[in-house]
Amino acid sequence: MVIRNVSLETVCGITSQIPEHEIPEFAFAGKSNVGKSSLINGLMLRKSLARTSAQPGKTQTINFYNINNECYFVDLPGYGYAKAGEEVKAQWGKMIENYLHTSKQLQIVFLLVDIRHEPSGNDKLMYKWILDQGFSPVIIATKLDKINRSQVAKHVKMIKEGLQTVKGTIVIPYSAQTKQGREEIYELLDTYLET
Ligand code: GTP
Ligand code: MG
Repeated sequence: MVIRNVSLETVCGITSQIPEHEIPEFAFAGKSNVGKSSLINGLMLRKSLARTSAQPGKTQTINFYNINNECYFVDLPGYGYAKAGEEVKAQWGKMIENYLHTSKQLQIVFLLVDIRHEPSGNDKLMYKWILDQGFSPVIIATKLDKINRSQVAKHVKMIKEGLQTVKGTIVIPYSAQTKQGREEIYELLDTYLET
């Protein structure tokens, strides 16, 4: 995949209509602060088009990034953001569910988990939910730079076991700092793109 032009095309809040597209969409889900927006920036070769923050709860809308008029990257709000009220949490959940349920062009749902930690209850729920919607989630284990190289295989195993991944599930360790893992993600996206 060669990035030529990227733009934030649509921002969907709780009451917005989700846009319908004719080209493939790739969505990025995961708990708040796991690195969804950072990963999207890395894939877009941009430093800060997708807004990131050390404070969880930065992305509170569904953001559609148009990539070369070839596909969309969809930045989903993070779940498990403790400071959000119950009502807001429920609304985000509905918004994400509605998107996964109605998008006709959604090809891959990437589920991001922090490579350092055992998947949380919400991660497990999200994984199941994505499966139930008929997708084969691709797991991205983020913040690869935070662990020792010798620990990677062990942590990948811990994540697979924690999520009880189905056979054949792909887990790609990724670092937003070193961009390790990016080529593997591009290769996967390429299999859905025409050029
Ligand atoms: P929400 O929008 O709140 O759901 O968070 P998000 O999943 O979009 O996370 P975001 O990309 O904003 O990153 C959260 C924090 O983690 C930021 O301070 C990032 O710089 C940091 N971060 C993200 N990815 C990595 C990584 O691979 N390595 C390191 N060291 N830090 C990372
Ligand atoms: Mg974000």
